[in-house]
Amino acid sequence: MNLIVKKNYIEMSTTAARTVADFIINNPGSLLCFCAGDTPYGMFEQLIEMQKKGLLDLNSVYYVGLDEWVGVGEETTGSCVQVMNDHFYLPANIKPERKLIFNGLNNPQDECKKIADYIKRHGGIGLTVLGIGMNGHIGFNEPGTDISELCGVVALDDVTKSVLPKYFGRQLPLTQGVTVSTKALSEAKQIILIASGEKKAAIIKKIIGSKNRDIPASLLAHLEKTCLIVDRSAYI
Ligand code: PGA
Repeated sequence: MNLIVKKNYIEMSTTAARTVADFIINNPGSLLCFCAGDTPYGMFEQLIEMQKKGLLDLNSVYYVGLDEWVGVGEETTGSCVQVMNDHFYLPANIKPERKLIFNGLNNPQDECKKIADYIKRHGGIGLTVLGIGMNGHIGFNEPGTDISELCGVVALDDVTKSVLPKYFGRQLPLTQGVTVSTKALSEAKQIILIASGEKKAAIIKKIIGSKNRDIPASLLAHLEKTCLIVDRSAYI
């Protein structure tokens, strides 16, 4: 693991954006897998800014969705697709043929097969950028889950259910998620984990100090190719 501690959220986002930009420039045609959630907003803004300045072509690579809540679609504010559309795919002008994402309104098993086939067709994931849940989850790889395929349907952990209002503005009766598996993510050529803010400090400490399936992010964090970028408030 390469641990990078930056002064604040903006610097964390800048470091992540520069790493992603270098990868895109050096690996055109490869497949990228970005998390939704609040943490990557700053990184997305900087990547889009680089493209506006002509430093980067975000359509020179492909994108695959990381996860989705089962039962919601793009009309629901707070769904992963809505977050990714509004903060990345639309402002970055990503062409439809450059991306494939989960549809939370379709049959979850069919969606997993669709995304797994897409990952296979691209020869695996080139680079992934992943936020970390309060319980150490990655995508919807919840504590203790062990998906042997590239994608899977997962029962949401209680901690994940408790943060639902942060995204949806209200509590929704969601119980499952679809996700790219820890296995598929661990096979990516480059892995970037990002975390910001005091509320993540306790889980970051656990991730750095241990490696086990109850903290899914720790399985990725301890790989040699992984870069864990945090800001100072998330690092104690
Ligand atoms: P966050 O979510 O970026 O909104 O903190 C991370 C996660 O739960 O995966």
